[in-house]
Amino acid sequence: MKTSNEALMLPKTDIALNVHQLRQILQLSHALDEVGNPAQTVHRMARALEEIIPCMKCYVWLHDPDTQLLWTYADERLHSHKADEILAGRAFLEKQRLHLSHPPEEALIHPTFDRLHAAELGHFLAQPIHKADGTVIGIMQLMNSRVHPFSASVLDVLSEWALLAGARLHNILRLKQWQQAFATFSETISRILDTRDYITSGHSRRVTLYAMELSRQMNLSPAQKKVLRLAALLHDIGKLGIPELILLQKRRPNEDEYEIMRRHVNITRQVLQGVHFPEEIKEVVDIAAMHHEKFDGSGYPLGKKGDQIPLGARILAVCDTFDALSSRRPYAERQPFAHIVNLMDKETGAAFEPFIIYHFKNLPLGNLIRILEHGHEDHINIGDVRFLNQFTINDYMQAHREPDDNNRALTERFDYYYSRGYRV
Ligand SMILES: [Fe+2]
Ligand SMILES: [Fe+2]
Repeated sequence: MKTSNEALMLPKTDIALNVHQLRQILQLSHALDEVGNPAQTVHRMARALEEIIPCMKCYVWLHDPDTQLLWTYADERLHSHKADEILAGRAFLEKQRLHLSHPPEEALIHPTFDRLHAAELGHFLAQPIHKADGTVIGIMQLMNSRVHPFSASVLDVLSEWALLAGARLHNILRLKQWQQAFATFSETISRILDTRDYITSGHSRRVTLYAMELSRQMNLSPAQKKVLRLAALLHDIGKLGIPELILLQKRRPNEDEYEIMRRHVNITRQVLQGVHFPEEIKEVVDIAAMHHEKFDGSGYPLGKKGDQIPLGARILAVCDTFDALSSRRPYAERQPFAHIVNLMDKETGAAFEPFIIYHFKNLPLGNLIRILEHGHEDHINIGDVRFLNQFTINDYMQAHREPDDNNRALTERFDYYYSRGYRV
C-alpha cells in the first residue's frame, strides 16, 4: 500500500505545480495580456510553457492570413513555413490535435531543432490554438523524449490553454493589424504630400530618415522614436492647405507669399488635432506643429524657446533645415555641403540646440549619403557606403578645411555622390 506521500507524488512526466511553475503560469498570462510585438509574445509563451509542462522543447506557431504561412520566433528571428512543410502543420490543416509517439524521421520538426535533440525525440504533440468560433490561428508544439510520454492531464491542460491563448492572441494580432493600418496610412499621407510638392520631392521621407538617424545617434528610447517618426512623416501636412500657385513656384517667395507659406504649421496643428491619437503618441501634434520654432525663441508660430519646444520638434528643426538646404531643385543644384554645415554652425544656439547639432555632426557619412540620395540607392556602391561610414560630418569638415593625401579619398568619394547630376 502506498504511503500518503507516495500517493501525492505524480509521475515525472505529469504536471506537479510548484511555486516556480505557478509564477510561470502568471507570466504566461501576462505575456498574453501585453499589447506588444506578437513575435515576442510567441517566444515568451513557448518559454513559459516549457517551464510549466514537463517537456524537452516547445514552440508556438501562428498563422499569417496574408501569406497563408505558419510562422514562429526562435533564435532571435522569424521562421515561416507552409503548413504542409512542417509536422505541426498537420494539426493546423486537420484542425485537431496531433499526438505521435514516433514522429516520422523525415518530417521537419522545426527549423531550429538540432540533430542532437532529434535523436532523443520520441513524443510529438501539436495542439491547435483556436478562436471561440473554431478558426485555428496557431499551434502549440511540444516534444518529449521516448521515455517521457505526455500524460492525460498534460493534454487536458493544453486544451484549456489553447482556448485561452486563442482568444488573447487573436486580440493581439487584431490590434497589430490596426496599428499597421494606421502606420501605413500615415506613410501614404506623407507620400501624397511628397508627390504633390515636386519642388522638394521626397522631403517628408528624407526628414523622417534624418530624424531616425539622429534619434539613433542620440540614443532615444523606442517610444520617443515612434512619436518622432510619425511627427516627421506628417510635419508638413499643413502644406496641403497652401495654394499650389504659391507652394510650387520656381523662385523665392515674396514677403506676402512667405506669410501664407508660414500658415502651414497652424494647418498641421489643426489637421492633427482632429486625429484621436492614443495617449502615448499624443505629442505627435506638438512636435509636428512646432518644427519651425527656433531654440532662441525667434521661430514661428508661437515663438517658444529652449525646453518650451519638445525635443522631437528641436530635432525636426535640424533635419528639416538640412533637407531644405541640401535638396536638389528642378531649377538648381545642391548648395556645397561644407557651405551648408557652416550655415548650420552659425545658427547653432540661435535656430538650433547645440546638443542636437553636436550629434548631427557625428552622423556617419555613408548613411547620410543614402538619405541624401534616397530614391537612387541602386546607384550607390555599398563599398563606398561602408567606407564613408567610418567618417562623420565633423571628419568631412576637418578634411575640407585641411585637405591632405590621407583625407582626400573621404571628401572625393562623398562629393562624388553629393554633387553628381542624373536628373532627366
Ligand atoms: Fe515646414
Ligand atoms: Fe518640412
